[in-house]
Amino acid sequence: MNVRELIADHGSPLWLADADLFSANLRAFESVWKGHWPQSRIAYSYKTNRLAWFLHRVERAGGSAEVVCLAEYELARRVVADPTRIVVDGPAKPEPLLTRAGADGALVIADSLAELERAAVAGVRRVGLRVAVNSFTGTPSRFGIPPAEILAAARAAAALGLSVRALSVHLVSTDFEATSGRVVVSWPRAPDEHAAAAALLARLASQLGLESHAIDEIDLGGGLPAASACAGHARAVTRALRDHGFSGGLLLEPGRAVAADAVDLALSVVAIKSLACGARCVICDAGTNFLPGALTGPPRLDVPGRRGPRSPALVTGPLCLNADVVHPCAQLPALEPGDLLLARAVGAYQQSASTEFGEARPRVLVSERGTWRPADDLHHRRQVERQAA
Ligand SMILES: Cc1ncc(COP(=O)(O)O)c(C=O)c1O
Repeated sequence: MNVRELIADHGSPLWLADADLFSANLRAFESVWKGHWPQSRIAYSYKTNRLAWFLHRVERAGGSAEVVCLAEYELARRVVADPTRIVVDGPAKPEPLLTRAGADGALVIADSLAELERAAVAGVRRVGLRVAVNSFTGTPSRFGIPPAEILAAARAAAALGLSVRALSVHLVSTDFEATSGRVVVSWPRAPDEHAAAAALLARLASQLGLESHAIDEIDLGGGLPAASACAGHARAVTRALRDHGFSGGLLLEPGRAVAADAVDLALSVVAIKSLACGARCVICDAGTNFLPGALTGPPRLDVPGRRGPRSPALVTGPLCLNADVVHPCAQLPALEPGDLLLARAVGAYQQSASTEFGEARPRVLVSERGTWRPADDLHHRRQVERQAA
C-alpha cells in the first residue's frame, strides 16, 4: 500500500512507524559496539519513542530499558523479563518509582547525594552515580554529581547500605543556551567527546576500586550516532576504557540512533497562499503540535510521487500561532490542497513529546514485514507480546 492509500484508509495526519527498520537499526548498533567491546549491552532510552512495538523489539533483541519516570517504568515492567536489567535515570524520580525499582532490584542512577538518601529509604540497593559533565554549549550540567564529589558520594552511598555498581554519563544532544535563550540541538557528539567522557568514568572507576567499590558497568548514555556512523565512536571509546584500565561492562542508551529514521509523519496540505512579501505559504494539517522538534530544526519534507521544478515554501501547521512552522524554507514542487507531504526521520522526541494542543494526536500505523497495521490493533498487539514472551 502506498502512503496515499494509507491516508485514505486511516486519515491525515498519520504516523508511520517501521518496526523492522527500528530492529535493524538496533541490531546494527549493537553489533558495532559488541565488535569493539563484547561486554556491551543496550538499554534503549524509552523517552525517545515509547511505541510498544519498538519496546518489544528491544526486548526480543536482548536489550533492556532506560527509563526516567514511573510511566516508563511501568511500561518496562510489562516488556522487560528481568527487571534487574532496567536502568532508572532522571533528575526527579518520584517516591513510587524508587520504591518499585528497589523492590525489583533495578539499577537506579542517582542524580545527587540527596537522591541517594531518598533511594536508600525507598529500599533501593543497586545504584549507579551519574557524573556531571558540561554540555556542548559549555553550560555546567544540572544532571549528576561533579566528578570531584564522586568519591564522597560513593562513600555516602556505602554508609547508607547502597551498593555502587555503575558510573553513568550522558552527553546531551539538546541544550538550552543561556546566553541566547535558545534551545539548540547538536547530535551526534564527536567521537573524542564520548571518549573523553569514557576516560573520565574509567579513571573514577579505578579510584573507587581502590576503596572496594566494584564498578561493574560504565554507562555511556546516549547522544551516539546510528550504526553507519558509529565505528569511530566505538573505537575511540573502547580505546579510552582500555587505556584507563577498565575491563567491565559497557552500557549504552541509544535513543535517536535507533528510533529517528524509523518513523515518518504523513501530513496533508490544507491551503496555499501567497504572503504579502511574495513568499509561498503551504498550510498543513500537522505542525509543531505533533512535530515539536521543528522548533529547533526542520524535518526533511518529501512529496511522494511528485516531480518537477522546486521552489521555496514556508510550511506551517494548523495552530493559530505564528511559531507553528514545520519548515521555514522547504524546497517543494508545485502543490495544491489535498497533496501529501512526508516529514521524514521524525521518530525521536516527536511522537513522545507531541501534544493535543489543537486536534487529537494522529493515529499510528506500524509496518512489520511490509504490512501496515494500526498500532492500536489489540489483536496484533497481543500477538507481538506473545512472540516477545
Ligand atoms: C540519560 C539519557 N540516556 C540516553 C538518552 C538518549 O539520547 P539520544 O537520543 O541522544 O541517543 C537521553 C536523552 O536525553 C538521556 O537523557
